[in-house]
Amino acid sequence: MTERQIRFNDGAAYEEMMGKWSRLAGDVFLDWLNPAPTLRWLDIGCGNGAFTQLLFDRCAPAALCGVDPSEGQLAFARTRPVARLADFRLGDAQALPVPDAGFDAAVMALVIFFVPEPARGVAEMLRAVRPGGLIAAYAWDIPGGGFPLEPFQDEMRAFGIEPLRPPSADVSRIEALGELWTEAGLRAVETREITVERAFPDFEEFWRVGLLASVLSSSIDAMAAADVARLKERVRARLAPAGRGGVSYRAKANAVKGFAPD
Ligand SMILES: C[S@@+](CC[C@H](N)C(=O)[O-])C[C@H]1O[C@@H](n2cnc3c(N)ncnc32)[C@H](O)[C@@H]1O
Repeated sequence: MTERQIRFNDGAAYEEMMGKWSRLAGDVFLDWLNPAPTLRWLDIGCGNGAFTQLLFDRCAPAALCGVDPSEGQLAFARTRPVARLADFRLGDAQALPVPDAGFDAAVMALVIFFVPEPARGVAEMLRAVRPGGLIAAYAWDIPGGGFPLEPFQDEMRAFGIEPLRPPSADVSRIEALGELWTEAGLRAVETREITVERAFPDFEEFWRVGLLASVLSSSIDAMAAADVARLKERVRARLAPAGRGGVSYRAKANAVKGFAPD
């Protein structure tokens, strides 16, 4: 039996499906962080570089390093304009391939719930930043139904399909993020919710884009055609109309920030 696990290996499909959501939420996250310019940034779980590009576009970084365990995602990241500055490295959040205290800020955008032991991930962020450095993350509120693919996954339950979840989904609760940061010894810890809305020209586009996610397609491909048609109608009924035949969906993330001790 194949292990049911969420995999990221197609940077272009990721871009169309999750990259756009990542930018919507990443913009709000960066407004909230309000970082100084010319920081040295470490983007952990940088994936296809969606958030790394946003750091480049908005934060005038002095240096950028992106780390991710997926070569497929990193290959796409290396095609972006940010690659002029960024050093993209293969690696894991729990054993970062970076020296101690080499960065001013370490961030995880939509990643902490993939880290098997989130506390080890935060300890690594702490090791990687200088004293007083910024450590921050945001993640879809999976237990709170905030994941952008929630209408698909929730309706799939009616067909006996339990959604695939990242290994540490529970850490995306706002209280859990706050506790994780506080227990790591970070200072001035703050949390906030981030709600973002994405509009689609019509429902067919919402459906097509959703199915680019392997987390869905792996289950839907195994369903009988009649069940897929019923699922589609159930998902359609969950969406808000957005004028001129369009639809929109609102997703919710939780964010946390704090500073390394001096
Ligand atoms: C939802 S994507 C987020 C990508 C990017 N940060 C963004 O905002 O679009 C999650 C990423 O986490 C990466 N990932 C999964 N497990 C990881 C781990 N243990 N350490 C670091 N990154 C991990 C995946 O390869 C994937 O690229």
